[in-house]
Amino acid sequence: MTTPARPQIDRLPPYTFPDLNLPGVDRVVQLAQNELAIPPSPRAIEAVRQSADDMHRYSDTEQTDLRRALAEVHGLNLTNLMCGAGSLELMNLLATAYCGSDSEVVVSQYGYKFFQVLCTVAGATVRVVDEPRMQIDVEGILAVVNAKTRLVFLVNPGNPTGLCLPPDAVRELRDRLPREVMLILDGAYAEFADEAGFESGFDIVDSGANVVVLRTFSKAYGLAGMRVGWCYAPRYVIDALVKIRVPNSISASSLMAAEAAVRDRDYLAYVRSEIGELREQFIELANSLGLVTLPSTTNFVLFECGDSVSLTAAELETQLRAKGVILRSMGSYDLHNHLRASIGSREEMEIFSEVLTALLA
Ligand SMILES: Cc1ncc(COP(=O)(O)O)c(C=O)c1O
Repeated sequence: MTTPARPQIDRLPPYTFPDLNLPGVDRVVQLAQNELAIPPSPRAIEAVRQSADDMHRYSDTEQTDLRRALAEVHGLNLTNLMCGAGSLELMNLLATAYCGSDSEVVVSQYGYKFFQVLCTVAGATVRVVDEPRMQIDVEGILAVVNAKTRLVFLVNPGNPTGLCLPPDAVRELRDRLPREVMLILDGAYAEFADEAGFESGFDIVDSGANVVVLRTFSKAYGLAGMRVGWCYAPRYVIDALVKIRVPNSISASSLMAAEAAVRDRDYLAYVRSEIGELREQFIELANSLGLVTLPSTTNFVLFECGDSVSLTAAELETQLRAKGVILRSMGSYDLHNHLRASIGSREEMEIFSEVLTALLA
């Protein structure tokens, strides 16, 4: 006799991660997970070294130093900030706190898939709204919101599209949603975005609106392995999440690394310019080889194998893998002729460009 999992879990298909193993290949260029390909701030690395002295202690449950650094750097209220073990932990807490068996959640077609898993497990019905021309459809979202809707979840800039929703559209959506529907803005790639064309959502939270902004240290700060994310949210949301969080889920090393990273603004500026330059070089090359790229404000590029390319996306992916380059296939988003390439280091992008040119030129 076995113990059955809850029905919501039994019905879930397994979540697929990219296969990062390439046995027998000497040099693997892994561009499948949108991590930062260059090391994090040297100050973050030094902070981790120093944190070793306190390994026998629990980390600070209140995350005070990191929250203070975030408040200072971004001009935010300390009491509206909370950190988690990756933004995924905060998504899980939001799903647990706000999704019940009779609730609905609205997500956009090209959004972060794992959030749907978390809401489904929490008992909610997830409604997915199409993105015509890969743009978040504000009218389409508003059209499916009903009395059961608790959360609307948007990824901005989008993953896998790399596109930003215009600031006016974010504000319009918030204004037209019923007050009791929470708008979650996942800005995992926000640090790469051009501030002029991007709505962070911080001011909207400050205005008292029902909005939660999610951020992560996994992308532009290069700390994916340390597992630190944070949210900026109204006090009633923070109060609910604090009650159900796992205490000390973020290690002391991770808290210290994140604090050092967020205070190192010069390093972030360097990362943005380095990744931006490599991204634009890649887009130019890909277009010249007949691939159809989307403009991106992130550390990845989504492209389609257009009519002038002799290979399908699946064939290109296989042939790149054979040469040691791993990209992310987009089948789970029904984008069967697209691939997503994270921007690697300068050396990785040289190898990728050579291999791609040899396959397509
Ligand atoms: C849009 C988006 N949100 C959230 C995450 C997860 O971030 P974290 O590492 O902070 O859990 C990712 C990771 O790829 C992502 O692409």
